[in-house]
Amino acid sequence: MGIRTVLIGAGGGSSYFLVGLERLKSREVPPVGIPLAGLLRAHRPEDINVVAVYDVDNSKVGRDMYSIASKLVPASNIPRSLKDIVVSRGLHCGSLGGLNVDATGLEDVIGSPERAFEEFVNQLAKLRPDVIVNVITTEPMRFVDSEGELVRLAPQCALGATLAYAYAAAEYSTKTGNPVAFINLTPPATANSPGVVSAFERAGALVMGDDAATGATPLTADLLEHMAERGRRVLSIAQFNIGGNSDFLSLTEPERNHSKEVTKSSMVSDILGYDAPHYIKPTGYLEPLGDRKFVAMHIEYESFGGFRDEVIVNARINDKSNLAGLMASAIPVAKSLLERGVRGTYATANRFYMKMPGPRGSKNISKIVAYQDLLRELKKLDII
Ligand SMILES: NC(=O)c1ccc[n+]([C@@H]2O[C@H](COP(=O)([O-])OP(=O)(O)OC[C@H]3O[C@@H](n4cnc5c(N)ncnc54)[C@H](O)[C@@H]3O)[C@@H](O)[C@H]2O)c1
Repeated sequence: MGIRTVLIGAGGGSSYFLVGLERLKSREVPPVGIPLAGLLRAHRPEDINVVAVYDVDNSKVGRDMYSIASKLVPASNIPRSLKDIVVSRGLHCGSLGGLNVDATGLEDVIGSPERAFEEFVNQLAKLRPDVIVNVITTEPMRFVDSEGELVRLAPQCALGATLAYAYAAAEYSTKTGNPVAFINLTPPATANSPGVVSAFERAGALVMGDDAATGATPLTADLLEHMAERGRRVLSIAQFNIGGNSDFLSLTEPERNHSKEVTKSSMVSDILGYDAPHYIKPTGYLEPLGDRKFVAMHIEYESFGGFRDEVIVNARINDKSNLAGLMASAIPVAKSLLERGVRGTYATANRFYMKMPGPRGSKNISKIVAYQDLLRELKKLDII
């Protein structure tokens, strides 16, 4: 039957994901780079069926994913089946403001954010998704404390696009009785907002978030776990990221960059138990680097007897391929969790897949520990 999936954002992450998924389905590539791939029994990555992709960039809306992916993915054989996926217009809510992109949202076409929101929920009701994945441009960080605030402000676009989409997903579930999973791979707080989690509980739906953990951040988390387990005292952490894609370009804006800094930094005190001085954030844009960002990391620490050592890591990491592999794992897991009756949010999965795992206040543990916890829970639920 497949896992009916809607992608929001027709950018690099979605393009790599669709290219990889089609190659996987046609057995052109093995399931490499997908966490849990060989273990998933209830639903597998190959079962994902993308039924719609939304964007607001006028150079993408109305175009097919074959032509979009051909520009964003450095491969000569983009699967031709992507010609069947044509990008639909979503809600803008100012998410691309200041980025020099010609963008039009449904609210601009319809003339009212509230009616555009309703129209979007109606479109979801027709598409009947099981899973909705949010991979839009990073927006400034926002938290929503109460469900009342969400219900009042999200349909007016006053909380930004990610929160409008999250609430639309919950409304779609309420309206149709179809339980949906909303996976937020971007920084604004959905699973970390109590108001959003309670809306999903009430709707009988599931929200997973926030901000996908790929590349350098999980590596830093695991190195910190290593230091903590050996009883070493971390004195400072510096981590730079320089990339050459539009994600990095958008992060040159201070407000957007700050939201990444928050999600990346939350792990330090959680894992170490104290707040070592740190500088962990995307630092720049250099076009020739493309999707393979340059990461430099420096961790200085004190060992037994007061002696000092340091770890230095240099890496070139394909951000988008990592993100796409994570999507291929999180989507079947989310669908299986829904079928097992999991509602609201699910900390055990968030801790593995996300940089800032919800619900708010849940501890950020290393990815190695989170993976073992997730394995145990998914076994209990008969998902793996
Ligand atoms: N490894 C990773 O790449 C990684 C890791 C963690 C999180 N993320 C997050 O994933 C998100 C997407 O990354 P990407 O590389 O695909 O970015 P991208 O810039 O290539 O694509 C984002 C797409 O979203 C679209 N968009 C913007 N506002 C929209 C709206 N309101 N509705 C619909 N579409 C909208 C843009 O037009 C663009 O096509 C970013 O928020 C990024 O922070 C990426």
